Amino acid sequence: MGAWCLTALLLVLLAPVPAGADPGRQLCLTCHPAHYARLGGCTVCHRGNPASERKNIAHQRLIAGRYARFTLKDDRQLRQGIRLLEQYACRRCHVTAGRGNRLAASLDRAAARKTPEQLALSIQRPVAAMPDFGLDDERTTQIVNALLAGAQGRTADDDTPVAVHFNIAAHTGRDIFSQQCGACHRLLSQRSGALGRGNIGPNLSGLLSVYYPRTFRGSEAWTSRKLGVWLKNPRAVRPWALMRPVTLTDNELVELVSILQVAADLQ
Ligand code: HEC
Ligand code: HEC
Ligand code: HEC
Ligand code: HEC
Repeated sequence: MGAWCLTALLLVLLAPVPAGADPGRQLCLTCHPAHYARLGGCTVCHRGNPASERKNIAHQRLIAGRYARFTLKDDRQLRQGIRLLEQYACRRCHVTAGRGNRLAASLDRAAARKTPEQLALSIQRPVAAMPDFGLDDERTTQIVNALLAGAQGRTADDDTPVAVHFNIAAHTGRDIFSQQCGACHRLLSQRSGALGRGNIGPNLSGLLSVYYPRTFRGSEAWTSRKLGVWLKNPRAVRPWALMRPVTLTDNELVELVSILQVAADLQ
């Protein structure tokens, strides 16, 4: 297969270029056979620069085959990717396909500006304020396809900039979350940026928004009232809960909720 490809490639490369070749022609075809021709030109799905026969120029901003699957209608990899975005609740921090909290960078904007390889790297080697989901290459590729699909047809500048994230070390750590929850949980908050440093409990970013998984009593969304019930006695809500009760005054609970809250206009 490889040898055949190479021979074919050499034959194409050695063929004389006709003088005055049609400038509108996709020069990708000098090196590659056509496929999916009925669905559009090469650059519709792969980006790239069709005006050059030089590979390095032709491949500018190229989308490799594995990241181009989102261009096929009803692709299994794409469906998996969309499912994973839900499963890991990426929208509790990011906007993708126009929906989500704006606690971190818009992934519609990132997908328009970064290469798929850069997106994959950001997911597999996340910054400190993003959970490490331990995703393998296959699932990361599926997610990147879902991000590219979500960004399709959206302009990169149609969203407001996100808050700058304080780095954890620089933060005073005097807020109620850092003091009472931060040893076990992390939180990307709208008000104070990245808080907490523990990974024993789940990352609580966007807990009180519609994008957080519905994990209260198995299938209910969290509210400030339900959070109060949980903190008083987690085992009254979830029989095998590992978290111990945390006693807060009414004022402290109000303060905590205000840190957890994501403004509705940021959703
Ligand atoms: C000069 C020959 C040449 C031209 C012109 C060219 N390619 Fe390629 N392309 C290659 C070669 C060789 C490879 C094998 C991988 C490599 O060396 O990068 C390749 C690989 C690819 C891949 C697979 C990349 C991957 O990682 O899976 C895609 C997709 C692709 N090319 C698309 C295009 C498109 C679209 C164009 C036009 C915009 C184009 N190529 C123009 C030679 C070319
Ligand atoms: C409708 C979208 C679409 C169009 C149009 C399209 N491709 Fe692809 N291409 C894909 C997908 C998806 C893959 C991944 C493999 C697959 O599903 O066939 C791919 C894979 C490739 C590969 C890598 C092959 C491999 O097996 O790794 C090359 C090279 C390539 N395309 C070149 C081109 C060129 C050149 C054109 C223009 C003649 C083109 N493609 C047009 C979607 C498209
Ligand atoms: C707890 C919040 C949080 C969650 C949940 C989260 N991320 Fe992130 N993500 C971040 C932060 C913070 C950054 C760094 C950029 C910034 O500060 O906005 C980031 C960066 C990224 C980037 C790079 C963006 C760019 O502009 O280069 C990608 C891609 C990304 N995340 C994908 C994902 C995916 C996919 C998921 C779900 C599997 C996910 N993230 C879940 C917080 C989060
Ligand atoms: C000593 C560690 C520890 C501390 C301190 C702690 N938690 Fe937890 N928390 C956990 C663990 C472990 C879980 C995992 C779920 C379980 O216990 O079943 C959890 C679960 C949760 C959940 C359920 C999330 C979900 O999706 O299932 C919420 C909400 C929560 N904690 C809020 C808080 C808040 C708010 C504070 C501070 C007031 C806090 N926790 C302090 C360890 C802790």
